[in-house]
Amino acid sequence: MGYKQHEWMREVLQVFSAMVENCAEPCLQVPSRLLEEADILSLSLAKIPGKIDLLEFKAVMLASLRSLLPKTWNSECEVAWTWLWENIQKMLKANLGKPPVQQKALRKFFMSIEDEQLAAYRTSLYTTFFGKCAQGQDYFKQSSTRLHFIADRMLMYTQDVFKDPKDVMESLSALGLRHVGYGIPTELFGPFVSSAIECFRGMTKDEQQEEAFRWSLNLISRVLVRTITEGSTLVMRAINANCAKMLRKAVSCAPRGLRAEWMLKVQVGTQSISPLLWSIQSGSLEAAQAILVDLLTIRADRDHYYYAMDALFNRHPDIVRRIGEDGPELLPTLLDGLIWRSRNTSNATRRVNFFIKYLVVDPKNGFSQSFRDVVAHGSPSIACHPSVVLAADILWSNVVAYTFLKSKLWFLLNLVVFVVTMAILTDYSDTASSASLLGMFIGRTFMYVFGLGQLVTRHFFRIFRACRNKEIARYYCFPIPSYLIHFSESLSMLLCLSLGVMLCQEPVVHCLGMHTLSDAQFAQFGGQCAEAAALIPSYSSFAFLATLVYFLLLLDLTVFSTKLSTFVLVCGRMVQEVAQYLFALSFVVLTFACGLASSDVANEHFSEILPAMLSLSRIMLGMFSSEEFQYLEEEPKLLLSVSIFVICTTIFLLNLLIAQLNCAYLGIFKDMLGYARLNRGSVILDNIPHVSQKRWKAFVDSLKMDEKLEFSEGDIGIAGGLQVLEPASANPVTTDSIKRYGGSTSPDCQWPETATDLDSEDKIDRLEKIIDKAVKKIIKGTKANKGSSGSSNSQLAGTSSSLGESMNE
Ligand code: HEM
Repeated sequence: MGYKQHEWMREVLQVFSAMVENCAEPCLQVPSRLLEEADILSLSLAKIPGKIDLLEFKAVMLASLRSLLPKTWNSECEVAWTWLWENIQKMLKANLGKPPVQQKALRKFFMSIEDEQLAAYRTSLYTTFFGKCAQGQDYFKQSSTRLHFIADRMLMYTQDVFKDPKDVMESLSALGLRHVGYGIPTELFGPFVSSAIECFRGMTKDEQQEEAFRWSLNLISRVLVRTITEGSTLVMRAINANCAKMLRKAVSCAPRGLRAEWMLKVQVGTQSISPLLWSIQSGSLEAAQAILVDLLTIRADRDHYYYAMDALFNRHPDIVRRIGEDGPELLPTLLDGLIWRSRNTSNATRRVNFFIKYLVVDPKNGFSQSFRDVVAHGSPSIACHPSVVLAADILWSNVVAYTFLKSKLWFLLNLVVFVVTMAILTDYSDTASSASLLGMFIGRTFMYVFGLGQLVTRHFFRIFRACRNKEIARYYCFPIPSYLIHFSESLSMLLCLSLGVMLCQEPVVHCLGMHTLSDAQFAQFGGQCAEAAALIPSYSSFAFLATLVYFLLLLDLTVFSTKLSTFVLVCGRMVQEVAQYLFALSFVVLTFACGLASSDVANEHFSEILPAMLSLSRIMLGMFSSEEFQYLEEEPKLLLSVSIFVICTTIFLLNLLIAQLNCAYLGIFKDMLGYARLNRGSVILDNIPHVSQKRWKAFVDSLKMDEKLEFSEGDIGIAGGLQVLEPASANPVTTDSIKRYGGSTSPDCQWPETATDLDSEDKIDRLEKIIDKAVKKIIKGTKANKGSSGSSNSQLAGTSSSLGESMNE
């Protein structure tokens, strides 16, 4: 028809279905939603250049409808659609041409307004609003700066609505849903908007500006009110009240097929809000817990099982992180919900279904984000939760252990070569055999080329990356690349430095081209020359340090056994206590050494500070011989001082250390297993990227998580987990956690109410009321009969019998 170039028609078409669907609101003369859509459309049309002839759309619309519905189309349809479009046209015409003028007027107003005037406006807006509607104060309880911020945002929206109507409508829908979360009654919008307009009127005499402000704020308010009305579900109301019981009642009305969706999604237009996330973010944790429990309860009719684990993790793949950040006390509820234990036992074992699919894989079968979040959360108790333990163990034993060991093989080879070269083949005497010298030369070449070479390259790239990404941390004021914060990384750096210093002092290198002590030996790579002889003491010290670091790095391998890893962690934590003890010890040794050196002691071992320190240390370590002790007896002053020293160090400080270690051990041991598991979790996260796609796919396939698990023989249940058998006595179960219902099996039906939670809660409520009534009676009775104990007793007896009666009811 040649209308393709009419861009405005595309705009109309985008909202046309919403207009048609909302054209009939029975109680209103002008349907409010239709008016709202028409107003928004008029804003969008104002952005399109060129002439707009609305009659053309009518012609196109009718022609298309006639040709699309040739059989059903009749004169009644013609009348109805013509009526609809004429109404829309009337609404659009009322605004046509106005938005640009209004936008200009508002811009002029906001350009001319002073900051003081704006501040006065913000204050008077709330004063006027509270004057009109005192109830508003119960909602606007925030600090005035926050209230001013809200007023500014409101003013901003009134301008933006002209600039970019579509974007603003999107953000208004989201804002409206947040107002649902704040629990704002829609009746308050009228007084709020009229206060805003009233205060605006006080600032301008220009009627066009006032009209522009009134029109745009009205539109904003209508969009907000509609979103609130559509978004205020029973679940959201229960969340606002933070009441678990209300929430359970709210979802009990949901069709069983939509029950999970009621708790996971409230959709208004293109925007949606998650009741679960909102309850967590807004601190309604009681409601959030009730939602989690409900979602992770297995319900069943004869035909289907209902369990919302998939829905939960698909809607919120980051649920573990969100809960960990905003409501960590809910994490055990979430993880408990992933476990089902059978009530029946067989051969002293019990079936346990762990629905841990999303702790192992993500919805696209990649590595699980939730597992990352559990490790990042860093809570030892969560790391020891059975669901997390099983997920970690499966990942570790089936995929990561092999990759980890492979990555450590190179390190192990380096360690072996280093130890063999430095501790077995290296001989600093002149009598070394030529075979051992050759072996030493080859070993050292390997150490520097492969061991040191690899370390230098690795750290160079990591430091470069850290600097480029500005990942710098401060350690006692010194800036260091943040990856070095990890103990094993800093050890690896220390090893790299030690090997580097060893290379600089390498005797073989220093003897090259020098006149050797023995030409024959140098020819056999001994490196024995006068220049190198002076370097040997410091070279061997660094060799000693490098050996220690090599062995310390070997501790990474303890991750293979959680028990061993726990023990290493415990030792690590204890180092701090021992360091304190050593500090105190050094202080006492120095004190006594200085004291003895400054007195008139004749014994040569104590007459100067350094020998005295050495002797005192030897005494404390039990390395002083009995002859040496005999010399002390010759000088009573010296003997007395040494005795006091022994009391201070060996008796007092040593026992204090033991007591301290005891207490610290008791305090930390219960967490250490969790930390060991977290450590294994970090190793899993570090190594997962190195697992090949093929291996990962084979692993995921081998788990068969898409196959349904049996609840009992022949009762095929739900997929998404693994079944294990645990000893029947480990976790006794007295009631089946699956809630089974008879009756209709249609997903559109609600779950029938049975004598379950709701009833038992009502009973508890009733019992509470009865106890309340009885307590009041007792108090009243005791007051009335203060003087007479006899009558008081009878009163008490009477009350208790009434309590008994009411409880029997
Ligand atoms: C046209 C009308 C309104 C507009 C444009 C508006 C706009 C806003 C905006 C932009 C925010 C900040 C949102 C956020 O950061 O999450 C907000 C928050 C809020 N609004 Fe409104 N609002 C309007 C009406 C009302 C009314 C009538 C009430 C109730 C008396 C109300 C109560 C609140 C509350 C309680 C907050 C939360 C403040 C906080 O948590 O710090 N709003 N509003």
